[in-house]
Amino acid sequence: MLIKQIFGMVMNWLKKIFSKQDTQQERDPEQSNAYDLIGGDKVIRAIAHEFYQQMQQRPETQPLLAIHRSPIAESETKLYEFLSGWLGGPQLYQQKHGNPALRARHMPFSIDESMRDQWLICMRAAVDKCVKKPEHRLAIIQAISTLADHMRNQ
Ligand code: HEM
Repeated sequence: MLIKQIFGMVMNWLKKIFSKQDTQQERDPEQSNAYDLIGGDKVIRAIAHEFYQQMQQRPETQPLLAIHRSPIAESETKLYEFLSGWLGGPQLYQQKHGNPALRARHMPFSIDESMRDQWLICMRAAVDKCVKKPEHRLAIIQAISTLADHMRNQ
């Protein structure tokens, strides 16, 4: 039940992100969502932080680290802001930077299967470490794998 709830919610956000619909809508305070269920801001920050820790520490993800141009702290903040809105919380990324248009923003980077897999290794490890419930972890990983595959441009 919870898996379905989170997965459905995340897929709705995905649709909005990719269909360029207005994502400025208010949150419904009556409706719990993935953001609330996994623990809100603190947990999202922890995921983004752990994601970049993983990328820096793992030998197999050094090619992915190497294509980053900005200081890691900046990339971490942007990932945190994006995940906040994507999981149904405050639309921090959109408020600061406008429409995420993630695929377009990733076009300057060559993203093949190997890059995608490196990205997912870091994200899986971060979610496993920061999200308590296995069913929540599974739902997020499933949805974010779809999103990561969509980022491939090679
Ligand atoms: C699938 C493989 C992916 C690769 C190889 C990749 C790589 C990158 C790189 C190299 C940057 C630029 C960082 C910099 O400025 O130096 C970036 C930015 C970003 N990525 Fe990814 N990414 C991937 C997937 C994703 C996914 C699935 C998400 C969302 C969950 C995401 C969210 C972001 C965000 C929010 C930014 C900042 C964009 C901006 O405003 O400049 N990325 N990514």
